[in-house]
Amino acid sequence: MIFDHDVLVIGAGLAGMRSALEAARSGADVAIVSKVHPVRSHSNAAQGGINAALGEGDSWESHAFDTVKGSDYLADQDAVEVMCQEAPGDIIEFEHMGCIFYRNEDGRLGTRAFGGASQARTYFVGDITGQALLITLYDQILKAGVKVYEEWFATAFYVEDGACAGAVALELITGELHLLRAKAVIDGAGGVGRLYEPSTNALICTGDGYALAYRAGAALADMCMVQYHPTTLAGSGFLMTEAARGEGAYLLDKNGDRFLKKYAPTKMELAARDVISRAETLEIAAGNGIDGNVLLDSRHLGPDVILKKLPQIHEMALDYLGIDMIKAPVPVRPGMHYMMGGVKTDIDGATKVPGLYAAGEVACVSVHGGNRLGANSLLDTIVFGRRSGKAAAAYAKSVERPRGGSALLRSEQERLSALLARPYKGETHAKVRLDLATMMDRYVGVYRDDEGLRKALEELKRLRRRYEDVAVGDKGRVFNQALQFVLELGFLLDCAEPVIREALMRTESRGAHARTDYPERNDAEWLKHVLFTYRGPDAEPGVSYMPVTITRWKPEVRSY
Ligand code: FUM
Repeated sequence: MIFDHDVLVIGAGLAGMRSALEAARSGADVAIVSKVHPVRSHSNAAQGGINAALGEGDSWESHAFDTVKGSDYLADQDAVEVMCQEAPGDIIEFEHMGCIFYRNEDGRLGTRAFGGASQARTYFVGDITGQALLITLYDQILKAGVKVYEEWFATAFYVEDGACAGAVALELITGELHLLRAKAVIDGAGGVGRLYEPSTNALICTGDGYALAYRAGAALADMCMVQYHPTTLAGSGFLMTEAARGEGAYLLDKNGDRFLKKYAPTKMELAARDVISRAETLEIAAGNGIDGNVLLDSRHLGPDVILKKLPQIHEMALDYLGIDMIKAPVPVRPGMHYMMGGVKTDIDGATKVPGLYAAGEVACVSVHGGNRLGANSLLDTIVFGRRSGKAAAAYAKSVERPRGGSALLRSEQERLSALLARPYKGETHAKVRLDLATMMDRYVGVYRDDEGLRKALEELKRLRRRYEDVAVGDKGRVFNQALQFVLELGFLLDCAEPVIREALMRTESRGAHARTDYPERNDAEWLKHVLFTYRGPDAEPGVSYMPVTITRWKPEVRSY
């Protein structure tokens, strides 16, 4: 079938829903395509909080400086200024929409400390902040009359006369493909965490929005900037929120020493994530860990703080490792958590493809540069979700309704039928995906070097060839998750290439990109964004550069 809307949003996480709400408020007829029920989006897993300089004695300038320093000076400072200036208004708006932020004894909104910040400016709801924001927004989009195509999976963007004009999506429950035409499309499809193993990300984070936009002509920027979170649960890789350290928890080596005194003597456990993840990796490699982990010790916080402010991670450590963090330290290790890079946009979410906007983790505005500060991601989704919703609705008013798209619908139908008909030759999506993700962790993880990155590129070529042989086990149409997984694997493979290529090209260490063979930051050569454009599955991507926008903070030596 064919459906028409003014604005089509892909993804129902915080960025997607916030953009949809703003577009609807601007008078647009808005629809969201989401491969899961909106409140099951990965924003649901965000724990620790959302930053804003709202308290007495704080300022947006201080928040912006911390963010720029955290980014290792790769963030565009005009965009950071917008985010930090607008943050307080967005927190207050969420509060007014019904989000139950934590309040102090005196009834005022309370904050907690987070890494890399010079003030405690993180607003929170226990350790389920993402969930609380998501539910608040879901109520709002229903009230605003936004149509949700729930459990629909976008397989391609539709481009008409050079402008993005909709998407083809698979209705998972029936297996039917549909064309959704729109005057503007907002890509809010979230991250690509499953490119790595282990990862804190949900299984749905398969880079759909990066690959869809990339294939449709948008550029991907800063893709080698991959954040490893310092505290992911041993074994499963689940997130153990930075809020634990914000509340005062320690990181210990096997001897019970707070090893961060060697790496970040001022900020200790509240240094930036890249710094702590590298420190842990070195300590573990030096044999100072326990079974490949370090310890997160919260015992001194006491049961009151743990049960009131960190109830979810308390439960997770108990459920998955049988450890009660009130009584014992919990083994943790660095795990892939977030992509600083993504679809290049301006501060209103516009990409280089007319009609295509992007917001949230999938986008690179760039406010996070080489390393994102904790609790700036929820903020990014809300600020730039709102701004892209407004801009997309305004753009939609200025263009005609698209009329074509049947040819794309037919070619997508043929592509999927061919996939379903592919004979089984022994290769499975699960095996290729696991090999891809473990390869990325091994060669393109916390530390990288020329030799490993070249191996990664060769291995990626082999994985692409193997992908051509992956058959879909389930030949039916109804809720065919095997088909979905194979399509998702195609997205992951497309995302891997710019990550590896930029990591290989960028012969310096900056933020999350740490090259053992180039250990210093090199501003003379690399204070710039690297952008990739797609040229087909068998061709090398196009590469171009953009200068970093510096408004008031000149790059300095970065220490914590
Ligand atoms: O540790 C955390 O709660 C994660 C927050 C974030 O990535 O912003």
